[in-house]
Amino acid sequence: MDMHQRVEGEEHIISTGHLPPAEAVRSLVAEAHRRYRANDEGLVADYIPVLGQTPRELFAICVVAVTGARYGVGDEQHEFSIQSISKPFVFALICQQLGPDRARELLGVDATGHPFNSVMAIESTPTRTGNPMVNAGAIAAASLAPGDSAGDKWEFIQQGLGRFAGRRLELDPEVYACESASNARNQGIARLLESYGRLYSDPLQAIDLYTRQCALRVNVRDLAVMGATLADGGVNPVTGERVVDAAICARVLAVMATAGLYEHSGEWLYDIGLPGKSGVSGGIVTIAPGKGGLATFAAPLDAAGNSVRGQLATRFLSERLGLNLFASKPEPPSY
Ligand code: DON
Repeated sequence: MDMHQRVEGEEHIISTGHLPPAEAVRSLVAEAHRRYRANDEGLVADYIPVLGQTPRELFAICVVAVTGARYGVGDEQHEFSIQSISKPFVFALICQQLGPDRARELLGVDATGHPFNSVMAIESTPTRTGNPMVNAGAIAAASLAPGDSAGDKWEFIQQGLGRFAGRRLELDPEVYACESASNARNQGIARLLESYGRLYSDPLQAIDLYTRQCALRVNVRDLAVMGATLADGGVNPVTGERVVDAAICARVLAVMATAGLYEHSGEWLYDIGLPGKSGVSGGIVTIAPGKGGLATFAAPLDAAGNSVRGQLATRFLSERLGLNLFASKPEPPSY
């Protein structure tokens, strides 16, 4: 059976539901912050040395509904580098350019079950790239950015991510310089992909683009708006701008669900039941399709590189806001 074949000429019925009333969302977001703010587990990432300076007590949560309503608490204004949370949004832009089938062919969409910067995964998966949520697939995605020059390609990525956020996102020069000086492993990944014919531009150019995209500065509000755009069929609910097609959003969310939390993606889906994406600087973005985006920030991470407080707060909110995509309850009998 050709699993990739489309069902032509059929209208898709989309049914997602709504967030609870505003007052309930506001008070649950505040409660999530109160519950977990004292949690001091986890280690702040320092393999990119500048990240190690982040104060461990910073903690913020923000929900943005598809109506554009925003509910935030804590250190909402604190800016940090987006890191791996850039990956689903760059994938969305590339998928929009190439179409979902070509993007799947070039980047893969299956989970690797390995850490985010695994070289073993490149050796052992038939696609080599794995998927666009791990470094190999994300570097390959950056190598597909359209443009005649490195500057044009960067403009495509920076502008595109800004359209998701609803404002221009700026590069953090310190993070960019620091990661550029300490990304030998990613350079190795790019060369390995090149050797397999699975990188689509000059390797150094791809690494530079990828390193830049990871160094864009965001706060939890930006991430929540970015998530809400994916939740809203590709239209930014704050600016009203269409960033990508609804069909692209569904593909991006599918890859986030299977691979967004790396080797803990199964654990995450088991508890939280939503597509999400984490980053080593301490952010997590989670999407409730048709309802909104949820973003958290707290720098201390678990062993897989996922924010400890962020996972706890997201789990609480998924349960209490009724977001889990797999949850149902019996319908009262009609007989
Ligand atoms: O490539 C890296 O190692 C970083 N720029 C991003 C890694 C990352 O955020 C993975 N997150 N859990």
